[in-house]
Amino acid sequence: MDLELKGKVAIVTGGSKGIGKEIARQLAAEGASVAICARTEDTLRAAAKELAKETGSRVLPFVTDVSSTDSVDRMVEAVVESFGRLDILVNNAGQPGGKAAGPLATVTDEAMLSDLDTKFLGYLRCARAAAPHMVRHAWGRIVHVGGASARLPGTYSTGARNIAVVHLSRTLAEELGPSGITSNVVHPSITRTEYFANVLATRAKKEGRSAAEIEQEYARNHSLKRVVDPREVASVVVFLASARASAVTGQVVEAGGGATRAVLS
Ligand SMILES: NC(=O)c1ccc[n+]([C@@H]2O[C@H](COP(=O)([O-])OP(=O)(O)OC[C@H]3O[C@@H](n4cnc5c(N)ncnc54)[C@H](OP(=O)(O)O)[C@@H]3O)[C@@H](O)[C@H]2O)c1
Repeated sequence: MDLELKGKVAIVTGGSKGIGKEIARQLAAEGASVAICARTEDTLRAAAKELAKETGSRVLPFVTDVSSTDSVDRMVEAVVESFGRLDILVNNAGQPGGKAAGPLATVTDEAMLSDLDTKFLGYLRCARAAAPHMVRHAWGRIVHVGGASARLPGTYSTGARNIAVVHLSRTLAEELGPSGITSNVVHPSITRTEYFANVLATRAKKEGRSAAEIEQEYARNHSLKRVVDPREVASVVVFLASARASAVTGQVVEAGGGATRAVLS
């Protein structure tokens, strides 16, 4: 299937690592030009260089902090100046797990607000800056990387920010639909990223067990009985970012190996 991504220009926020880097890799492999952004310049530059070399597509780094409106606005303007247009926004930047983890008694206002500022408001800032460039040529794709915690109780900030992202996406679908722009959410569950490897290593040390044993515990909760790979999340995002997903908007797709064990209509 030709996803018709050749000649398209995409921004992937949080594209220097983990799921975002894999999304950028697959978009570039399909022939799109890709702008990746994150705060840490060295890692970002190295990722852009690696992906450009591997795919032969243009992949450029834009140092950005999505918690700053100025930084986001400058990034989107610089991307349009460098590539001449903007077709696709993948909102992905965020700290997996968030700062506001733990029980009610220990959740602070500051941590909660910081998590919402980066992920929920960060996604809104990027969509607000990107949308006018898509409206101009009456075509666009916005894909938000949420998280299955939106559907599960038990995590304060990650659940709250991910469900807020779903509402944002549905509202964008309604507002931007007449301009040929779609907006959808992909929910990963726990995914085998560098972050997950660190979680396993920390827990293994603390609990005196092997990382493999702890991973199996996570996997047991998934219908597929394994933890998914970032590539499996990225391919769903890339499809939704493509011309082929033209009829899909305002939707939520879980790419977590069946992490939410509920019947959702
Ligand atoms: N990994 C999982 O198991 C999992 C599960 C469910 C949902 N998710 C969601 O998937 C997305 C990606 O997670 P991941 O595991 O791939 O994370 P990751 O490996 O830690 O990568 C996060 C990316 O976001 C960037 N970032 C963080 N804060 C930023 C900010 N303020 N401005 C700009 N860039 C920022 C990071 O770079 P800098 O730090 O250099 O800025 C990095 O590029 C997140 O939205 C996360 O909530 C992940």
